[in-house]
Amino acid sequence: MIVAPSFLTADFSQLESEIKSIASSPWLHFDVMDGVFVTNKTYDHTMVEQISKWSSQVFDVHLMVMEPELVFQAYADAGADLITFHFEAVKCSVFDAIKVLKQLGVRVGISVKPDTMIQLLEPFLPYIDLVLVMSVEPGKGGQAFLPQAIEKIKWLDEKRIELHLQYLIEVDGGINVQTGKLAKDAGADVLVAGSYIFNRKDRHQAIQELEHV
Ligand code: DX5
Ligand code: ZN
Repeated sequence: MIVAPSFLTADFSQLESEIKSIASSPWLHFDVMDGVFVTNKTYDHTMVEQISKWSSQVFDVHLMVMEPELVFQAYADAGADLITFHFEAVKCSVFDAIKVLKQLGVRVGISVKPDTMIQLLEPFLPYIDLVLVMSVEPGKGGQAFLPQAIEKIKWLDEKRIELHLQYLIEVDGGINVQTGKLAKDAGADVLVAGSYIFNRKDRHQAIQELEHV
C-alpha cells in the first residue's frame, strides 16, 4: 500500500522534525481547510512552499475549501504534485476544474464526503488520477472510521476494472491496521493516516505496518 501521512495532528511548534519523522513514506498528505467548507481552518499554500524545503515526497494536497478552483494555481506553483478537490465544493463545472488542474501539470483527484453518493463521480472517472474516499466527516483528525466507505471503495474498484481505467483509490480518515486492511481488501491503493502515525513514538514502524496491511 502507498501510505500518505497526514500531519494535521503534528506538533506545529517543531514542524521540521515532525515532517522528517515521517520521511520514510513516499507521499505526504496536506489537509487544507478554509473554515467554510469545514469548520476548522488549517493553513494555505505557503505551508506547501515551506515544507518543500524539508521534503521531496509526493505532495498530496487535499483541499477542503469552498470554490477550490480559485486556489489551484497557488498550490500548483507552491509545489503540489497532486491536488484533490471536493465534488461538493466546486462552483465551476467539475470538467473545467479537471481541465485547469491538467493545464497546471498536476495530478487530479476528486473527493467525496461520507454522505455523497459515489456514483455521482462516474462521468469524471476517465479523466482523473485519483478518487479520495472520505471515511470520516472531513474537518478533523482522530475520528472513527465510517464503514460505509467500504462499499464506495468496492464500487470504484469494480468500475475501474469495467472501464479499464487506472485511477488510484485513496481512503482518508480513521485509518489503522484493521481499517486499512478492510480498505485494501475492498480495492484501495493509498491510505491516509494521521493519528495512527502521529500518536506513535516510532512513526516509521507505524508507516511500515500500514504499508503491509
Ligand atoms: C480529515 C482529514 C484527514 C485526517 C486523517 O478532514 O482529511 O486526512 O487528518 O486523520 P486521522 O487519520 O487521525 O483520521
Ligand atoms: Zn485529508
